[in-house]
Amino acid sequence: MAYAVPKLTDYSADVLDKSAADLRAALKQEVLSVQSPDQWKTFRDRWLARKNGIVTQVNDLWLKSAPKGAKKLAGQTVNDLKKDVEEAAEGLRKSWETGQTIQVAYLGAEVPAAALEAYARDKVGPVDISLPGIQRPIGAEHPVMKTSREMCAVFQRLGYSIAEGPVIETDYYNFEALNFPPNHPARDTQDTVFIAGQQSKPQRERLLLRTHTSPVQIRTMEKMRPPIRIVIPGTVHRNDPPDASHSPMFHQIEGLAVDTNITFGDLKGTLDHAMKEFFGSSVKTSFRPSFFPFTEPSAELYISCFICGGSGKRGKDPCRPCKQTGWIEILGCGMVDPNVFEFVKDHGYNPKKVSGFAFGMGADRVALLKYGVDDIQLFFSGDVRFLRQWA
Ligand code: PHE
Repeated sequence: MAYAVPKLTDYSADVLDKSAADLRAALKQEVLSVQSPDQWKTFRDRWLARKNGIVTQVNDLWLKSAPKGAKKLAGQTVNDLKKDVEEAAEGLRKSWETGQTIQVAYLGAEVPAAALEAYARDKVGPVDISLPGIQRPIGAEHPVMKTSREMCAVFQRLGYSIAEGPVIETDYYNFEALNFPPNHPARDTQDTVFIAGQQSKPQRERLLLRTHTSPVQIRTMEKMRPPIRIVIPGTVHRNDPPDASHSPMFHQIEGLAVDTNITFGDLKGTLDHAMKEFFGSSVKTSFRPSFFPFTEPSAELYISCFICGGSGKRGKDPCRPCKQTGWIEILGCGMVDPNVFEFVKDHGYNPKKVSGFAFGMGADRVALLKYGVDDIQLFFSGDVRFLRQWA
């Protein structure tokens, strides 16, 4: 039977001593049976809870209700008991924390080794030194970032350096200085996310999320005189509904080379080399006419499909990535339009003296192709089971 505090009717020294001895016996038994931190908490609450713990009950039943003449002795008895209970609880806790047996004075006994062992097992478990150490996952580079970095590295080996610019751009850098005149229909080809509440500003100062990395061409030419060779990795936004091949946020890699006597031959040679470096030396390139306001002439670069080798077929099945054409569109490019140099001519870019080429590609698209992923949303949904494949 669990110990319960008896009511006293007789407050003589003998009865108090006997009652106190009974309580101590019960305390000792319970202390020695505690085997775990949880049991310790139960023990502590049973004995020391302010509301209705055994010590509180003793105080109420033995001291508060004692007649005047017996108060002094009862008070002393109750105080001594309280100290013992606190010492017992505290002694147990300390034993576990230090892992050492500690003498609990009045018990005339040590906290038993078995209780300590039980506690140590609970806390750290047995140590098996043959097991591998704790693995701390350090994360891995995102496949789009990896692709972007590797593509930039191809150009860095050709002497290009990295340039970057802001994602929140002004209308001037994103459009006007790239030869998209205000209200020109070419602006409609890039569904733009505009920052709200800009109507009071002149159009060229209004903020938007850049739709391409090309504004960094202008920003860099404002800072660096020719000759320049730069690659520009970065995030861009367009108001496109997400599907397997579109995302309102995606990544581009831009390139710009400006010098005297840069020709379309330089553009073709550079990009042909870069595609072979990146996709493999058997890849062929094909340039087809296109239009961008900031390049003239403009082209789209296609590479021969490195999945089907340009045949358009995989065995008997149609090749999906190249839609059976044997060619995959990779980027837009062209010779920098002299109108663009007009905007930076005060920074050393005389349209009559310098020429250059530029190109821009989607890093996400390149990553989709390179890793054979069929849904761009997988790159941005944050599912580690997908991303772990690149760890
Ligand atoms: N900025 C163009 C786009 O996003 C790509 C491009 C870059 C084309 C540089 C030509 C030269 O579509």
